Order: sequence, then C-alpha cells, then structure tokens
Amino acid sequence: MIAPSCYVILTYFRICKFETVISQHSIQQILSRIDIVEIVGSFVKLKKRGANYLGLCPFHNEKSPSFTVSPSKEIYKCFGCGASGNTINFIMEHEKYSYVEALRWLAQRYQIELEETEVSAEQKQQQLLADSLYIINNYAREYFTDTLFNSEEGQNVGLSYFEERGFTEETIKKFQLGYCLNTFNSFAQSALAKGYNLEYLQKTGLVTIRNEQPADNYRGRVIFPIHNQSGKILGFGARILGKHDRAPKYINSPENDIYVKSRVLYGTYFARHSIDKLNECLLVEGYTDVISLHQAGVENVVASSGTSLTQDQLRLIKKYTNNLTILYDGDSAGVKAALRGLDMAVEEGLNVKLVLLPDKEDPDSYVQKIGAQAFREFIEENKKDFVLFKLQLSMQEAGSDSAKKSQLVNEIAETISKIDKAEDFTKQQDYIRQCSQLLNIDEQGLIQLVNKFIRDRLVKRENAALKNQGGDALSEEAIAAMEAAETGISVDSLISGHERQERELVKILLRFGDKPFSEEDNTTVADYIFRLPYDFEALAESELVKRILREYKQRYDSGELLDRKWFLYHEDQQLSKEIAQILEDKEADLSMNWKERFEIDTVYGDNAYLKDTISTTNYLILRKIKKLIYENQEEAKKTSDINQLMTCLEMQKHLNALERELTNGMGTVIFK
Ligand code: GTP
Ligand code: MN
Repeated sequence: MIAPSCYVILTYFRICKFETVISQHSIQQILSRIDIVEIVGSFVKLKKRGANYLGLCPFHNEKSPSFTVSPSKEIYKCFGCGASGNTINFIMEHEKYSYVEALRWLAQRYQIELEETEVSAEQKQQQLLADSLYIINNYAREYFTDTLFNSEEGQNVGLSYFEERGFTEETIKKFQLGYCLNTFNSFAQSALAKGYNLEYLQKTGLVTIRNEQPADNYRGRVIFPIHNQSGKILGFGARILGKHDRAPKYINSPENDIYVKSRVLYGTYFARHSIDKLNECLLVEGYTDVISLHQAGVENVVASSGTSLTQDQLRLIKKYTNNLTILYDGDSAGVKAALRGLDMAVEEGLNVKLVLLPDKEDPDSYVQKIGAQAFREFIEENKKDFVLFKLQLSMQEAGSDSAKKSQLVNEIAETISKIDKAEDFTKQQDYIRQCSQLLNIDEQGLIQLVNKFIRDRLVKRENAALKNQGGDALSEEAIAAMEAAETGISVDSLISGHERQERELVKILLRFGDKPFSEEDNTTVADYIFRLPYDFEALAESELVKRILREYKQRYDSGELLDRKWFLYHEDQQLSKEIAQILEDKEADLSMNWKERFEIDTVYGDNAYLKDTISTTNYLILRKIKKLIYENQEEAKKTSDINQLMTCLEMQKHLNALERELTNGMGTVIFK
C-alpha cells in the first residue's frame, strides 16, 4: 500500500505529467476547419433558408422550426428557447462535453492531430488546488463513514440518530453519510498526519483554526457529503444532533474553487437518471428530504438546500427535464417569497408545478408517515400549476380589497407575459382564460395587460439594441421582432384594423420611404404616398400617426427623408417609444423585412414593400370612401330637396365606382 503522503505527491506528479492543454496552434487548426452547418447538420436536420439554415431545435421540444444557423456569422440561435452560440458551444451543449472534450471531438472528426502543451504554472496551480480539494473531501468522506460505522461514538450517537430517522444502512451507504467525533481535532490530526495541506483543509471548511490550533469544524455532527453530477464530493453539510438553540442546525462547506453554492443542487448525482427517465424533477428543501424520498423509491428528487433557486440551478435541471415540481412544507412561511423567484423558472421555459404538503410536514416526515405509494399519489393529486396557484394564493390574501386585487391582476399578467415562446402559446392562452375566470375579469382586458408587458419588454430590448449600435444591434432587434412575431397574441391584437393600417403606413415610410417606387419616373415610395391626392395626415385618426406624418411631410417638403433612427432617437421619449412599438408590430413587417433583415426569402420576394405600400394606402383611402358613402347616405335620407337628393345619388355612383376600383384592383385611385 502506498502511504497517503506519497499519494498526494503522486497525484501532483500525475497532474504535471498528464494534465496538458491543447496548443493554440491546434485550436486554430480546428477552428479554421469548422463548418457550422456541417457540424450542426450532423445532429439536426437543416433546411436552407436564404443565407441561413433552419431546423427543429435540439434543445427543446418544438413542432415548427425556430432554430437557425448562420454560416456567415458562424453561430446558431434558437428563437424558441434562446439557445445560441458557436460550433464549439453547440457540441458542448448537445453532447454535454467540456470545452476540451468538444475540441477533441472536432479534432477527431477533422483528423487533426492535437498538439498538447503543458499547462501554465498558474493553471497548474488552480488545477492542483481543485484536485487537492477533491482529494481531501474524499479522504474526509471515508474518514467520517469509518467513524460512523466503526467507532463507538459513531455507532452510539451518529448511527443511532440515522436509524431513529428511519434511514436504512443501505441508504446511509448510498449517500455516503458519516459522523464527525465530538472531539477537538481528531479529524484534523488524522488528516495532517497523512500529509494533507493545512491551508487546503481550511479551504474545504473541514478544519478551522481555534486557539491557534487546527480544529474540527463539524465535531459532534452527522455528515452529508454533497456530490457533483459525476459523483465527486464538492463539500459537506453537517447537521447538529438534538437541540440547536445557539449553534446553527447545519454547517455547510464554505464556497471555494469547487463548491459554488449557486451551481449545486443536492442529490443530482443520485437523481439524474430517474429525472431523465420520468421527465420530471422534484425539488425539495432539505438533505433529509432527498434521502427519505430516495429510500421510498422516489428518486427524481433534488434539494435547493434551503435557498431560493438560482439561474444556474435551473439550467442544471433543464439539462434533464423541462418539468419541475416543487414540494413545499405546508407550514413554510416563506412559500410566498419563494414563489416570487419562480417567475424566473417560468421564464426559462420550465413547466413549474407546486405541491403543498400538509401542515407541519416536510417531504421526509410525510413520506415516512404515509409510505411511498400514498406519497406518490398525494403528489399526483395535489400538483398545482404554479401560475394558477400563485393567483389563488394572492386572491385569498387580497380578499375584497380592490387596490390589492388590481395589483394582483398586474402581477399575474406579468407572469403570464413571460411565457412568450412560440410553442407555449397555447399554454399562455390557457392561462389567460383560466385566470380571467378565476379573477372574474374580462378576458380581453387581461390579454391587453399581458400584451402590455410583452410590449414593454420589446421596447426595452429595442432601446438596448440601439444603445450598443453597430455590432449586434440589428440581430438583437431582429430577435425581438421575431419573438414578437412568434408570440401568438401580440401588440397587434390590441389595435383595431384601422389603426393598424395607419401604423403600417408610418412603418412603410420609415423603412422604405427612400426605396424606388417606380423606375420609370424615378419616384420613391415617399413620393408615391405624398403625391396621391389624399392627405393621409387628415385621413389618420390616431393622433400619434398624425404627428409622425406631419413631421415626416415637413422634412419631405424640404427635400429630406427621415428614417426610423431619426424617430427612435427623437427628443420626445413618448414618441420614440411609440415608434419602437410600431416598428416591432408584426403583420406585414415580416413579409417586408425577412429578406432584408434575416436574409430569408419570403413569398413576397424582393418587392414586397411595393405591394404593401399600395395595399396600405388603398386601405386608408377605401376607409375614407366608405365613410363618405355612409355620410352621403345619411344626407340622402334626411333631405327632402329633390336636387340635393340627385346630387347625393350622383355622388353615390361615383363613390361606389371608386370603392369597386379599390377593392378589385391595385390601381391608383384618383378622387377629387
Ligand atoms: P431535518 O431537520 O434534519 O429534517 O433537516 P432538513 O434537511 O429537513 O432541514 P430543514 O428543512 O430545516 O432545512 C432545509 C435545508 O436548509 C437544509 O437541508 C439545509 O440545507 C438548509 N439549512 C437548514 N438550517 C440551516 C442552517 O442552520 N444553516 C445552513 N447553512 N443551512 C441550513
Ligand atoms: Mn426535515
């Protein structure tokens, strides 16, 4: 047997000898060979769309493709789930590889021989530190297990505690539970004697300095090792026995190179296969909840260790499933606070369900009380949708207080607005319907409110995109537009057909005002619009549209064409906000701009804007004519003067002819 101190030295040696990095030269070689379409295409069926490629996203379930690959930018981007990155990111994400593994995979594929160089001194140091912490944790784990089973105090105190809690020996061994003697420094002494470095022992939190002596930090406590996804030990939770008036119930490892609290969920190592298989992850609060449930055969469970969920933890869950079910203690006062954090999970695209346990029970106590079968049934029967649950809870709280109720409506609308992914559209509609019923409010009203939140976010994004102009501004903006388009209910449904067309006219002017309308007489789109014998400013009903048309026309008359940027940077914030909204409305926007913005062909082809210009102006003129027809008819009804009646009838004929002309063809209308 090798003495432990040699073990550390040997490990060091191993790291020096074999821990190498791939040389920059090799990386460059790989990068120069990468063809993103070919690589991604070997996992995803891609179809060419203009300069880009389109397919079904491999990172979430979808029926219509929203996953795009741009060979020129060498990136992929999913407009459904937001996944994006370069080729290496794709391999890492898809194959769950590390960066180096992804490089090796690519090297093999392109038959590039990798040059590996030794890591830099600093990298080596870091790698060494991380490795050492793992080694120390592993040693400690063995030591605490040994103490639990083989020492008198371990058996009498630790083991009997676990037994009292109903943990079987098999469970204890599986979770590698342990016990730390209630002495000043038994562990520290043993570890130091075996040659482990004091500084590292302190970093792991296993040893502290007390009265200038290395001392055991977890003395007299039972030990719960915390594993990473591949089973290595990141740190520990150490629980006090019996009463805990002054000392904390749990002491957890401090954060260090390997233990980063916000990235860890207790139990992932034991739960991952089951989560994958059942396509659901149960989330509980405590270590003992995970362990008891496992023992009862419910294995798809992880614990947040008493803190609210972080983005990294959600991502960890999302690697395995989109279905997250949270089990809360019935008496948990923090339920409401915790709920707030769950909006983030909804945003991440997770389907969040909640199960409230009966009063004074936690998953551990409850499963032990009613047994595995009943527990599972309880979960199935009491699973509540998070959004609806949140609503019910707030409703109880709001009672008949109308101010509170309106705040609540706002909150729920905001939550629903966050489910704005294309494939979740039905879900969003469902929520709106159910929530409006529950709240006894008008469904349309709720739709409007939800849309307002979506719209506000789009505006924010547009503004952000404009701020970091140049570079990626357009793509950000393109994303916003595409998302707006994918959102089934969008701003558009809020706006009447009339106003939509008015806004459309603004959009056409801002986007295409300077584009050629007719090659023959060398006119632009703006020329066409302003040379029609109609005053669109007068035709428009929306004050905003009137104002924009007025400003635009003034500049046009002095020979200048204003574009979207001019309005987006307008000194009047209100106006620039509204412009941003108009520019983000979907409708013809996509037909007109796909080609230009996404380099994707549409059925409309290159000249879609011409067709849109004519149909929009015609619509507005037609609207005016219909109004005139109506007024004319009203006048005819009222008059008793035969001459006036004749004039009205003449007028009627003329107007009807115009109407026909406008509805039938796309021809230019002359109307005096
Ligand atoms: P038991 O009381 O033994 O059933 O433990 P539990 O895991 O059910 O603990 P509890 O429900 O009280 O707390 C849930 C989780 O919060 C625990 O598993 C810990 O991760 C964490 N926690 C609880 N108390 C403390 C504490 O005093 N300090 C720290 N750092 N974490 C704690
Ligand atoms: Mn408990």
